[in-house]
Amino acid sequence: MRRRALLGLAGTLPLGCTAVAQGPDPGDNASGGLRDLARPRGLTFGTAVRSDKLAVGPTLSALVAREAELLVPEWEGKWDALQPQRGRFDFEPLRAVLRLAQANRQRVRGHALLWHEAMPPWLAPALAEGQSQAQQILETHITTVLGETRAAIRDWDVVNEVISAPPGGDNPGPANGDLRPSPWLSALGPGYIERALRLARQADPTLRLTMNEFAVYADTPWAQAKREGLLRVVRGLLDRNCPLDAIGIQGHLQMREPFRPEPFVQFLTTLRGMGLSVLITEMDVREPDVLAPTLAARDAAVAEYAGAFLQAARDGGARTFLVWGLTDRDSWLLSDPGVARHDGQTTRGHPYDSELRPKALQARLAQFFSA
Ligand code: XIL
Repeated sequence: MRRRALLGLAGTLPLGCTAVAQGPDPGDNASGGLRDLARPRGLTFGTAVRSDKLAVGPTLSALVAREAELLVPEWEGKWDALQPQRGRFDFEPLRAVLRLAQANRQRVRGHALLWHEAMPPWLAPALAEGQSQAQQILETHITTVLGETRAAIRDWDVVNEVISAPPGGDNPGPANGDLRPSPWLSALGPGYIERALRLARQADPTLRLTMNEFAVYADTPWAQAKREGLLRVVRGLLDRNCPLDAIGIQGHLQMREPFRPEPFVQFLTTLRGMGLSVLITEMDVREPDVLAPTLAARDAAVAEYAGAFLQAARDGGARTFLVWGLTDRDSWLLSDPGVARHDGQTTRGHPYDSELRPKALQARLAQFFSA
């Protein structure tokens, strides 16, 4: 009954329009979701959202309202969304996410001020024009974006995926010590991370500055090398008194990779010992090539793998946990050729399935946040 009322209300949620008053009554949403299980324990659950997907129908909006305390825009905070043409900023898609969050009394974290992907076509050639030009472009973007979002967003991924690793996976290997080859590195040299962090601190002195990274969780030599590379880069930054507050661990899990808690917990503990917070920013699960024969068995395996990762993250000091989408239906794991399955099977790496029914991973999350 309560749930039906909630869905009806959420159906009126005008995404992309103003109107906190017309959105779902947060009081009505305030019980039964993962956000409410997590909050009393000092934990936060959140999800990535895309305003265009939410606009398709009311059901996903209702789910997001009920489950998440924290939202992160899946696309709307990236360069190609925010500055599609040089000097022309478009905050409308991001504002749609902010309005949704306001209606649901959710917080929003920003993603991402500097990344080697989602660059609008003009950007890489402009960066290549020269170092002072590139510095100016970075400064204008960071200052303009943080100036616009400071009232609503208090945590941004300032740099995303800057760490390199030995060749393998989807990483081309080191071009400059521990840093991934990118147009940013080519244009500005290895100091570009520090530059971005200092610009962010200057533009918004109390903003939490996060460095976000992927593929640092598994029990493989490759991930171990990447963990060590990240620690070296972070130590270098801190030694130079560069502002940095948190490390975001993406958590795009791959079940074909072995996982053992100890090295991961140790890694997080080391980061925390350096005075940094750690948080899980983008968890989802890629299933192995050979799938279990039933959906129930697949879902149980996903929940078990993710559960071990979540518990280790918590043991290592993480208190904030975001998934990269609540449902299999809306996942990049379905649509992005770089990560989609090639056997025609629908991925089951999110808490809810394609019909928006909860799966074992949702139950595992509920248990995790209740403990
Ligand atoms: C992904 C989005 O989910 C996709 O829709 C898009 O096509 C590519 O980017 N790491 C990140 C995220 O930091 O921004 C990426 O998001 C997933 C990997």
